[in-house]
Amino acid sequence: MKWKRKDILDLESLTQEEILHILHTAKPMKEILLRPIKKLPTLRGKSMMNLFYENSTRTRTSFETAAKVLSADTSSIAVAQSSVSKGETLLDTAKTIEAMRVDLVVIRHSASGAAAFLAENLEAGVINAGDGQHEHPTQGLLDMFTMQEHLGELSGKKILIVGDVLHSRVARSNVWGLTKMGAEVVLVGPPTLVPPELKVLGVKLSHDLDAELPGADVVMALRLQLERQQSGLFPSLREYSQLYCLTMERLKRTGKDTLVMHPGPMNRGVEISSELANSAQAVIEEQVTNGVAVRMALIYLLMGGSGNVVA
Ligand code: CP
Repeated sequence: MKWKRKDILDLESLTQEEILHILHTAKPMKEILLRPIKKLPTLRGKSMMNLFYENSTRTRTSFETAAKVLSADTSSIAVAQSSVSKGETLLDTAKTIEAMRVDLVVIRHSASGAAAFLAENLEAGVINAGDGQHEHPTQGLLDMFTMQEHLGELSGKKILIVGDVLHSRVARSNVWGLTKMGAEVVLVGPPTLVPPELKVLGVKLSHDLDAELPGADVVMALRLQLERQQSGLFPSLREYSQLYCLTMERLKRTGKDTLVMHPGPMNRGVEISSELANSAQAVIEEQVTNGVAVRMALIYLLMGGSGNVVA
């Protein structure tokens, strides 16, 4: 297919064909990334700016690495040391960046809709690297890429997303993407973190992890977002982990060689045991590698990459 979009803002509005095209493009990108000399001249002369208003280890570094492999120039605004601290608005900051002839802006922001707002107001492409509790589309895509590598077709696969769904943009992007692929998604967690309002997402909600585990092809633990938590959403971390922490013992209930995933950063011993996170069943580091490949694909598509990736 011919790529037409200027921006990647969410998985809700992407078509199945577009998602498949991104995942397909990510395959040769991963092959390039795994080479001893990982450099292509494809995007020489193009530039990308990271604008992160929230902390990040994986996403920000992953975008920088992806752009560098494709020879695009990259820079980052350290928001805490920028004129944002003097009261500059998001739009003025973004317009300033655009005036430097940047081709692509990658933004993470605590406000849902921040990426869409920039996309409407900039000629440069915009990628949403996480906006509030709305979406984290590149995480959803790298998760699907990882699942496809292990499971092939995702249609009909049973995927549990466990934990703090209420606050999770990762969960929302995965729900939109995976349901477009025909997967069966179940959101699991305590009633305060998986409330009935999430029925709008159109997937099954459950509060009983042990009852949902049989037959699960993938179990994805979400980070308990203590920094976004209002008090009283669960009685104690101990009680939460007794009911919802993924452990080797608990995973035996699936009756399968189930894939264990986590977007990171992890609270070990709260949502996933260290033993399980370090086990062969967990593909958490593969997710990180695949994140670079998927972001290479997106940068390539949005910055005007045409034709086949040079082998
Ligand atoms: N998964 C994820 O978004 O991680 P970071 O917050 O480290 O970018």
